[in-house]
Amino acid sequence: MGEAQWFDVDHYLSEVLVGADPALEAALAASDAADLPAISVTPNQGKLLKILASSVSARAILEIGTLGGYSTIWLARALPPDGHLITLEASAKHAEVARSNLANAGLAERVEIRIGRALETLPRLAAEGKGPFDLIFVDADKQSNPEYFQWALTLSHPGSLIIIDNIVRGGAVTDAKSHDPDIIGIRRLNELMGREPRVCATAMQTVGSKGYDGFAIALVVAP
Ligand code: SAH
Ligand code: DHB
Ligand code: MG
Repeated sequence: MGEAQWFDVDHYLSEVLVGADPALEAALAASDAADLPAISVTPNQGKLLKILASSVSARAILEIGTLGGYSTIWLARALPPDGHLITLEASAKHAEVARSNLANAGLAERVEIRIGRALETLPRLAAEGKGPFDLIFVDADKQSNPEYFQWALTLSHPGSLIIIDNIVRGGAVTDAKSHDPDIIGIRRLNELMGREPRVCATAMQTVGSKGYDGFAIALVVAP
């Protein structure tokens, strides 16, 4: 029992429930070839994102943290033909890889990638009157999670889902004395969600091919 088994089970579930997917596999291969870090969501997590987006009949999706566009492809596939997804990415190089991966997946028209630090691009989105978004996926720098959560609330409506990746970090999240800005950001986020009356929020620990981590999910219940 242990990590090797988590990997085996994740691969097994992914084989049985997700199956081969040329566009997604090509996106990972291209991301790897461009030396992007291998930190995309797993296939099973990606499919969960798609299911959640479909469950709220998402027509407008916001993602913070694009990387090579792997999670973006999963989310964008839940959109109807006239739906759209905006994804925010600080690295021009990552955005370029994502652009190519999204085009290869046939999703270029539904997805807009905005390059820049999200704390700068989010206020611009709001000023342009973008949103409300039906689903917001937060998966960028973890120290800014509290601010991303507040922006997600601003850019959502009752019924929207806000999903935040990487909220366990191998268990480090329970360390109240941590000086790691990521852990501090994740803990502040969890506290914010816990006391925010506009959302109904929970979080799940996960194990699998990305090790031990977790995700939080908040349903916006009031304006
Ligand atoms: N959602 C992706 C993984 C994202 S990895 C997937 O599952 O496929 C985190 C990404 O956030 C990286 O590409 C990183 O460059 C980006 N990032 C880091 N800090 C950021 C910031 N301040 N604003 C926007 N993007 C940022
Ligand atoms: C890491 C993993 C992630 O899913 C992410 O979004 C950022 C970083 C990591 O393992 O370092
Ligand atoms: Mg992540």
